Amino acid sequence: MRMLSSTRLLIPRLIIFIVELLVLTVRFVDAAPLGTWNLLVENAGISSMHTAVTHYDTVILLDRTNIGASRINFTNGYCRDNPDDRVLKHDCSAHSVMFDPLTNSLRPLTVFTDTWCSSGQIVANGSMVQTGGDYEGLYKVRLLDACPAGGSCDWVESESEALVDPRWYASNQVLPDGRQIVVGGRYTYSYEFVPKTSSGEGSFSLSFLHDVQDNQNDNMYPFVHLLPDGNLFIFANRDSILLDYVNNRVLKTYPTIPGEPRNYPSAGSSVMLPLDHTNNFTVAEILVCGGAQYGAFRSSTGNTWPASDTCGRIVATDSNPKWSMETMPIRRTMGDTVILPTADILLINGARNGCQGWGKATNPALNPVNYATYNAASRFQVLAPTTIPRLYHSTANLLTDGRILLAGSNTHQYYTFSGDYPTELRIDAFAPPYLDSSYDTHRPAIFRLSTTSIRYGSMFQVVYTVGEKEGEFEVNLLSSPFTTHSYSQGQRMLRLATTEPVPTILGRAFSAMATAPGSAVVAPPGYYMLLALQGGIPSKGLWVRLTS
Ligand SMILES: *[C@@H]1O[C@H](CO)[C@@H](O)[C@H](O)[C@H]1NC(C)=O
Ligand SMILES: *[C@@H]1O[C@H](CO)[C@@H](O)[C@H](O)[C@H]1NC(C)=O
Ligand SMILES: *[C@@H]1O[C@H](CO)[C@@H](O)[C@H](O)[C@H]1NC(C)=O
Repeated sequence: MRMLSSTRLLIPRLIIFIVELLVLTVRFVDAAPLGTWNLLVENAGISSMHTAVTHYDTVILLDRTNIGASRINFTNGYCRDNPDDRVLKHDCSAHSVMFDPLTNSLRPLTVFTDTWCSSGQIVANGSMVQTGGDYEGLYKVRLLDACPAGGSCDWVESESEALVDPRWYASNQVLPDGRQIVVGGRYTYSYEFVPKTSSGEGSFSLSFLHDVQDNQNDNMYPFVHLLPDGNLFIFANRDSILLDYVNNRVLKTYPTIPGEPRNYPSAGSSVMLPLDHTNNFTVAEILVCGGAQYGAFRSSTGNTWPASDTCGRIVATDSNPKWSMETMPIRRTMGDTVILPTADILLINGARNGCQGWGKATNPALNPVNYATYNAASRFQVLAPTTIPRLYHSTANLLTDGRILLAGSNTHQYYTFSGDYPTELRIDAFAPPYLDSSYDTHRPAIFRLSTTSIRYGSMFQVVYTVGEKEGEFEVNLLSSPFTTHSYSQGQRMLRLATTEPVPTILGRAFSAMATAPGSAVVAPPGYYMLLALQGGIPSKGLWVRLTS
């Protein structure tokens, strides 16, 4: 009797279970991938405030120096004896490391003067030229000649070269002539060039930076984008100008962006959207996303104030430009904007409440969001969340294998491993949806380039393999920016003209010709990641060098 009734119950239950399983399976198969997270290193030794990827695929991580002992000691007996260091004058720990994403190994580097909130660029020969900082580092110029994993390259502080003005929270951009421009800094309303063309060359005043400053600054780490017309788009607080930096003339003042302040300490993020061959790279659109409420920085409750939830986009090269505003699905301050191989923009890191500074943010924004650059109808897609909050002093950088490397986050003045949002020493990586293995049969792999030293305007051959060839073939170039404080200095993408791929090597591969950008104004000289895409699925990147 008993058994009978339980069997009677069991059969319908079993049927329901099987149906549920089928529904789940179908859902699982249908579900679009949302990306995956992977912890790479438990202890990077430092919390990276500034990060850049070299053309050897090694990664330069850089914190500030006057933060006390880090969690990675030199193993060669080196100690830094700096009488000007504010915290530790005899310091046997490193404040910069080189990371190899292939083996997840680290090597301590020996930066000497204070690099706190400094700036930099990777210049034409692939070396990092890095500028400013705080205290004894305010006027410094530092060089790191890039090297492969296993190499011994290290920071060298220039004795002969120095900045003219103090630069703490400045922004840099490589110029067509290979020099870089260094713009602004805390209470520094000027720009200058590195290196100087003559020994007497000074700085050039930029009153715009002063005019837009409010009582919590909001003008630091200005967003600086080199437009394809050779002028600079400079954005600070809520305003922007077109600057002819050669003649020190403001050519245009853009409309004020609606919403909150967007620069430090309000910390929106900005990127120039990919430049495209279809208009001969003449149209440049700027995207600014997130920020914080004015006043959050000074208020004792500011860390709970909701951050900005808007993105603004403006065609900076238009004759009558206007901001076009959209609402993000997740509010964000201290987010990073990363140009993805697909030409979409990844919004990642940061917090939903508060602003930049120690203890001034809460409610981490754990979900990255994909911003579909060319799809206004379906602009934002919320992706898989991380478990590691990345707030103040964190970074996000694209690797050639398509992953995004996440490092740093320190909401404290020193290394503090207790309380809310402790100093973050872990490095992890986010694999965006396009890396999902379900796309592997459609993923192109570059087999050969006719050259990796590409002259402006020249055509070069791309030979590639792909399992199933579907959809449009594309070739994109991506610079490697210097990322700090929610802004990737010098980030740029170029979408190249290509011919229709034709079968080659007995039909086992395809060959197409791509045309390099026409000039150094469109793409400053130096190393770029070259990526092939088929039907929107990207290959791994290869480093090429653009030269005249
Ligand atoms: C670095 O060396 C100091 C002094 O010997 C030591 O106290 C500290 O624990 C070391 N740190 C690491 C991460 O090994
Ligand atoms: C790279 O360029 C920088 C800046 O011009 C220069 O100081 C450095 O020596 C160069 N490095 C190499 C390896 O050529
Ligand atoms: C495209 O721009 C380049 C400069 O970047 C110029 O040399 C070239 O003539 C332009 N081509 C066309 C078709 O306008």
